Amino acid sequence: MTDESKRKLALVFLGPPGAGKGTQAKLIAERYGIPHVSTGDILRDNVARGTGLGLKAKAIMARGELVPDTLVFDMVALRLRQPDAEQGFILDGFPRTVAQAEWLDAFLERELIDNAHNVKVRPIVVQINVDYNQLLRRLTGRRTCPAGHIYNIYLQPPRVDETCDVDGLKLVLRSDDREEVIRERLAAYERQTKPLVDYYWNKGRLVAVNGGSAVRQVTGQMIQAIEQMSAAEVKSGRR
Ligand code: AP5
Repeated sequence: MTDESKRKLALVFLGPPGAGKGTQAKLIAERYGIPHVSTGDILRDNVARGTGLGLKAKAIMARGELVPDTLVFDMVALRLRQPDAEQGFILDGFPRTVAQAEWLDAFLERELIDNAHNVKVRPIVVQINVDYNQLLRRLTGRRTCPAGHIYNIYLQPPRVDETCDVDGLKLVLRSDDREEVIRERLAAYERQTKPLVDYYWNKGRLVAVNGGSAVRQVTGQMIQAIEQMSAAEVKSGRR
């Protein structure tokens, strides 16, 4: 990214369960030095710690349904106000409904101002497309390490069976990666999240990439798309 376009980045990764949002967010967050904010990870952490939020979310997540918007808003606001998100962030799994997208627009309008360039920060939304059968294979084969590294027994296996390459921890199957729950999660995406494609397209905020290729190829496409949109906005004076 050129110096001129090195501005605060509010990135949103949009795509169905298994599209690779988390995998890509980890890589791209590192590249831009901004945090990866996954609402799924924050909710799972709350469930594991048995917080009030976790107790409310647990059964809903186990069914593959969306947690109510009202529970998610405070959680996201709290996270985005942390000092490490000052220069921007990648949202993975949020927004997931039109109401959440409207909330995010209002939040950014109110709270994320790029004072150095005297502009408000608007989201760049990257839609990751992957076909249905590939999503099923990715989700049924996914294994995660408790520290967050993501593997796939078919597509990205660890070097040693069931063990994280990075920290040696035992890999686990996410409780919502069972086939009956996966189908409900994919249905919830179609019903509640897919309308965001039109929402962001109509606002000129959306770029789409083919998420069906190898991880590094997808990363390359996403970075190119982000930088093109960012540069176009700088040129037009909107960022
Ligand atoms: P969340 O944790 O957000 O899950 P999700 O959206 O269903 O997405 P996933 O994490 O399953 O997939 P991903 O796209 O990140 O794919 P990944 O990179 O892991 O949400 C879980 C639940 O929390 C929801 O169901 C809901 O209940 C609740 N929730 C969360 N946010 C909410 C919100 N905003 N509002 C309300 N409720 C909310 O990759 C998947 C697999 O594919 C891995 O095995 C990976 O190794 C492999 N893979 C990835 N990319 C590639 C590639 N290019 N080639 C080959 N394999 C690949």
